Amino acid sequence: MCGIIGCIDRDDIVPTLLSGLSKLEYRGYDSAGIAVANSGVRVVKREGELNELVQRIESEPELDGISGIGHTRWSTHGRPSDENAHPHTDCSSRVAVVHNGIIENYQSLRTELQSLGHEFESDTDTEVVPHIIGHELDAGSSPRTAFYEAVEKLEGSYAIAAVFEGHDEVMAARQGSSLVLGVGDDATYVASDITALVDRTDSVVHMDDGEFAFLSTDGHEIVDENDERQSKTQTTIEWDAEAVAKGEHDHYMLKEIHEQPAALRECLRDRSTTGQFVTADVFNDDHLGPIHFVACGTSYHAALYGARLLRERGVPAQAFLASEYATAPPPIRDSTLVVGVTQSGETADTLAALRAADERDAQTLALTNVVGSTAARECDDVLYIRSGPEISVAATKTFASQLVMLTLLAHQTSLESGIGNADRLLSALNELSGQIQQVLDTTNAMPTARRLANSSGYFFIGRGLQYPVALEGALKMKEITYEHAEGFAAGELKHGPLALVTEETPVFVSAIGDDETVQKTISNAKEVSARGAPVVAVTDGTTSIERFADVALRVPETHRMLAPILVNVQYQLLAYYTARYLGRSIDKPRNLAKSVTVK
Ligand code: F6R
Repeated sequence: MCGIIGCIDRDDIVPTLLSGLSKLEYRGYDSAGIAVANSGVRVVKREGELNELVQRIESEPELDGISGIGHTRWSTHGRPSDENAHPHTDCSSRVAVVHNGIIENYQSLRTELQSLGHEFESDTDTEVVPHIIGHELDAGSSPRTAFYEAVEKLEGSYAIAAVFEGHDEVMAARQGSSLVLGVGDDATYVASDITALVDRTDSVVHMDDGEFAFLSTDGHEIVDENDERQSKTQTTIEWDAEAVAKGEHDHYMLKEIHEQPAALRECLRDRSTTGQFVTADVFNDDHLGPIHFVACGTSYHAALYGARLLRERGVPAQAFLASEYATAPPPIRDSTLVVGVTQSGETADTLAALRAADERDAQTLALTNVVGSTAARECDDVLYIRSGPEISVAATKTFASQLVMLTLLAHQTSLESGIGNADRLLSALNELSGQIQQVLDTTNAMPTARRLANSSGYFFIGRGLQYPVALEGALKMKEITYEHAEGFAAGELKHGPLALVTEETPVFVSAIGDDETVQKTISNAKEVSARGAPVVAVTDGTTSIERFADVALRVPETHRMLAPILVNVQYQLLAYYTARYLGRSIDKPRNLAKSVTVK
C-alpha cells in the first residue's frame, strides 16, 4: 500500500526522503515521488521503481530545501503513471500533498473545484486536497488555516502530509490511516510506518485519528480537531536498521522464513516458562464468553486455527473474515471477546471489524506484531507476537508466531478449566525452534519445487488443525508464483473440487500422526492419486502415506497442536522455490501490498 515520508531537515532533505522511501518499498507500490519546499515547491515523480525516481532526481539541478515529503503510490484511483504519482499540487504549485487512503467524496469536491476554474492533471482522489488548499490560500488564508479547511472537507480515510512554498513546515493529518512522527536530534519526521524511520531515530510519537501535526525546525506540535494542543508520549522503537536489511539472503521472504526459530524464541520469552502463558486481562476472565476472531488473509488462517483450538476446549469460538464481519457482525454480547489477529495492526478491514465490536460493547484484544499500531492502541488489550519487522509482502514468520500465541491462549484456557497437560506442551514448545531449524536444514522443497514448477495448478488439503495450513500453503503459493492454487478441507474434495484434479495438478497433503482423522486424509490423498495427480505428502513419518506419495517432505514429530507450524515451513519453502524457478518478483508480488490500509 502507499507509503508516506515527510521531514524537516536542514542538511539532507533529498537523501532523507529517498532513504525513507526505500524503507517503504516493501509495502508495494507502482510509482514514487518527492516534493521539496523553499521559496517554491518542486515536485519530482515517476511511474515505476524507486531507482527511476532517483535517476530523474539526479538530473534535477539544485533540488534542496528544509521541508519535504515523499510517497510511494499503490494505485487505487487511476492507473500507475507519472501524472497519477504523488505529490500533487494546486494550480500554481504553492503546495504539494501526499496521501494514503481513499477520499470518498472526491468526485463532488472535484466537480465543485472545476466549476471554480481549477484544472486537474491526474485521475486521483488525492488531487482535490492541494486544490482546496490553493483555493483557501487565494481567499487569504494562512497555510495552516488552508490545511485545516481542506482536511475538514474530506470524507473517507486519509493520512496526509503537505509542504508549502516559503513556509518551513510539514503539515500532516490523520483519519483512519496510520501516521507516526519520528523525533531525531537535528530533524523531525512523519511517516506512515515506523520502518521508514528505523535508521533515523528510535523515538516516535503515534498520531491518533482527528489529529494534525506540524513539523518545524523547532520540533513538532500535535493538535486535535478542536485545535487543542495534545501532549503525547514518545515511545522507543525496538527494531533497528539491521532488522530491516536483507542480509545474506537473496530475498526478504527467505530471510524471514529462516528467522522463524529466533522469532518463536522471542515470542515465547517469559511466556512458556511459567504456568501463566499470557497476561492479557481480557482473556483471563473466569467466565470466558464467546470469542470472535476477526482477521484477513494469512492472519485469518491463524484465526481459523485459534478458533478451532478453543472450540476443542469447549470455548464457543469462531473466526470471521474481517471484511465480512465489519458490515454485518453476528450477534455480539457484552461478554463477547473479539480478537483482531493482525500482523501490521493497520489492516483497514480488521480495524473496522474491531471498531464494530467496540461499538457493541464487546471486549477487544489485538494480537499484533507492531508496537503502537492502531489495533494495539484502540483495543482494550494487546498481545504482541514479537516477530520483529516483516518486510516481504508474503507473511511467513509472523504466521508462525501467531499460531504459537494462539496455542498459548488456548492452552491457558484449558488449564484454567482443568483440562490439558502443560508439561507436554511446554516441552514441545521449547523444542519447536530447533525443529524448525531441522526442517530448514534438511528440506527437499527446492528439488520438489523444480520438479513441479510447470504444473497447471496446485492444491493443498488438510483436516482439523491442518486445514488452516492447507489454506495458508495455497495462499502463499498463489501470491508469489501467480499460479492457481487452492486449499481445501480434505473431506470437501469429493464434493466438487475433485473435478479440477488432473495429472498436472499436484496435491499437497499434510498427514501427521496416525489417528483416525489422518487415515481419512490419507484416503482422500489416495483418491487424487488414483486420478493421476502427483501427491506431495508432508509427514512426520508416522503415517502410511509415504507408501504411495510421489514425494515426501519430512517434519519432526511434535505435539499435535504444533505440527501445523512445521508443515507450514515446508509449504513456505515450496512456494518460495517455485516462485524462484518461475522468475517471479518474490518480495513484492504484482498487485499486492504489505499493509492493506483501504477497505
Ligand atoms: C499474505 C499476507 C496478507 C495479510 C493480510 C492481513 O501473505 O500477508 O494476506 O495476512 O493482508 O494483514 P495483517 O495481518 O497485517 O492484518
